[in-house]
Amino acid sequence: MGSFLQCTFLLAMLLFSVGLTSANSATEFYWKAKLPFTPMPKSVIDSLATEDNDDVWLSTHNKAHNWTHSYEVMLKGYEGGGHCHTDSMINTDFITSTFFLEKDLSMGSRLSVHFRDNVGSVNTRFPSPRLAQALPPFKSSSLSNNLRFFNAEPESDAAMFMNLTLNTCEHPNPINGKKQYCATSLEKLVSYVTSTLGGSHDVRTISASPSGSPHRDALLPYKVVGVREVATEKNMVACHRLGFPYAVYYCHQPKATTAYTVSLVDVMNGVKSDAYAVCHSQTSEWSPEYVGFKILGAKPGTHVCHFLQFHDVVWYRG
Ligand SMILES: *[C@@H]1O[C@H](CO)[C@@H](O)[C@H](O)[C@H]1NC(C)=O
Ligand SMILES: *[C@@H]1O[C@H](CO)[C@@H](O)[C@H](O)[C@H]1NC(C)=O
Repeated sequence: MGSFLQCTFLLAMLLFSVGLTSANSATEFYWKAKLPFTPMPKSVIDSLATEDNDDVWLSTHNKAHNWTHSYEVMLKGYEGGGHCHTDSMINTDFITSTFFLEKDLSMGSRLSVHFRDNVGSVNTRFPSPRLAQALPPFKSSSLSNNLRFFNAEPESDAAMFMNLTLNTCEHPNPINGKKQYCATSLEKLVSYVTSTLGGSHDVRTISASPSGSPHRDALLPYKVVGVREVATEKNMVACHRLGFPYAVYYCHQPKATTAYTVSLVDVMNGVKSDAYAVCHSQTSEWSPEYVGFKILGAKPGTHVCHFLQFHDVVWYRG
């Protein structure tokens, strides 16, 4: 069975490589048709299917699964569904330092943050349309087919993340206002965002990787020197990358959420940069297990903020 699937996969790859260039320009054409005035954010560019990536799928992702170090943990307790053995990640500083209290979003505040620009799940890309046809369905009921297709051992981290991602995408979340949506292609992502925002004019994006953003890969002290509101729940959709062998954006509109541009000065070298953060101000129905509460020692109801992670994208009309 395994080798049959692998052959199917190889065949799909061969067919796919013929149509590759046109697939990718079709994708860009689609973007330009739907969002003519919106530059494609780097996160999305980095998730476009490429020929190289399909070689990677064959040679690496199918075996090494080096995408498993994902930010999925950030949704823990917000998403009621998933059970995930990622508690050790809650101790890593690039997760913990991401969270802060709303009162710290003010001029002169000092925050130590570890901005990282390369965590496993960002290495994945959307499957090309042709390749997508060869994939098992993106459904938890097809978990075992997905595990077989991607050669993931049932007890492995890869299997755990794939299961968690599929469950997270299907779990109805009553606290987030509207149902979340998981996009597994650029077309689905754009179509969800434009229909949710009620149009394609004036759609803007912020993502955690603008030029001039903090990029020194360490926990560093920063001083807040500017805070500017960018968007509120009503006109915004936030999309986070989840761990899977290919790119998956989990998009949602959490209630009473505001996105900000936060200007920071690196206390050690005086370099100024802009980061992005969102604050949630209606959290009383959230689980006490929400990772942000745990890290901040806070309870449901607390206004909690976090910086956007690399490759998160907030879409808004403005
Ligand atoms: C994962 O594998 C890809 C392909 O070999 C490589 O480009 C990338 O740097 C790897 N990422 C990590 C985090 O090891
Ligand atoms: C997948 O996750 C669900 C829900 O947490 C769990 O009940 C199930 O046992 C998991 N399946 C596998 C194969 O790990």
